[in-house]
Amino acid sequence: MALQIAPSILTCDFAHLADELDRIATADWVHVDVMDNHFVPNLTLGPAVVEAVARSTRLPIDCHLMIEDPDRWAPGYVEAGAGSVTFHAEAAAAPVRLARQLRAQGARAGIALKPATPVEAYLELLAEFDMVLLMTVEPGFGGQPFLDVCLPKIRRVREAVSKQGGDIWVQVDGGVGEATIEACAAAGADVFVAGSAVYDAPDSAVSIARLRELAEASCAH
Ligand code: DX5
Ligand code: ZN
Repeated sequence: MALQIAPSILTCDFAHLADELDRIATADWVHVDVMDNHFVPNLTLGPAVVEAVARSTRLPIDCHLMIEDPDRWAPGYVEAGAGSVTFHAEAAAAPVRLARQLRAQGARAGIALKPATPVEAYLELLAEFDMVLLMTVEPGFGGQPFLDVCLPKIRRVREAVSKQGGDIWVQVDGGVGEATIEACAAAGADVFVAGSAVYDAPDSAVSIARLRELAEASCAH
């Protein structure tokens, strides 16, 4: 699969959501961060805003749920229009059951891990997921510095995914920009979330093209 760029709208201007989505029309996905002020100390948006995003862009929606009780709430984000729904391993009571439900609804199912969460417990379950999201900052806010201590975990997940076969994507999220995307790609990531790197840039299309070019040049697989 080709490398993919998924800009996060977390720090965009929500008063002009449609215009902000136009700025990233050359991306592969729009990454939508859902936070409930319980799983993380920040509060963002819910299914109604995801529906508004779906009405305002042709990009598929990649929902990243940083919420408690995703078992209860995640299916509603498929109904709201998400093509991919990722929930946190630390929050899900029954991750396999939930992933099966999301897939049965027609979405891709992703599992996310915070920097301190070991991946080993999930390696045997990989076939149940379409994507593993590895956080490279503590979840909750955009604009934080990349944690390069997470790179070995990216490598281990890439190895496991290659052994597993199939089409499981490895997404990195947090502090990904021109200075860090090459290390992520070299470690084996193939889907790159970039929030501030894309939205702080004067021309987001140029930023997306540059990120893509850097990632492709150092892609390990
Ligand atoms: C953080 C979110 C990220 C964030 C990325 O908890 O999951 O998607 O928006 O923003 P940057 O790229 O600025 O770190
Ligand atoms: Zn995210």
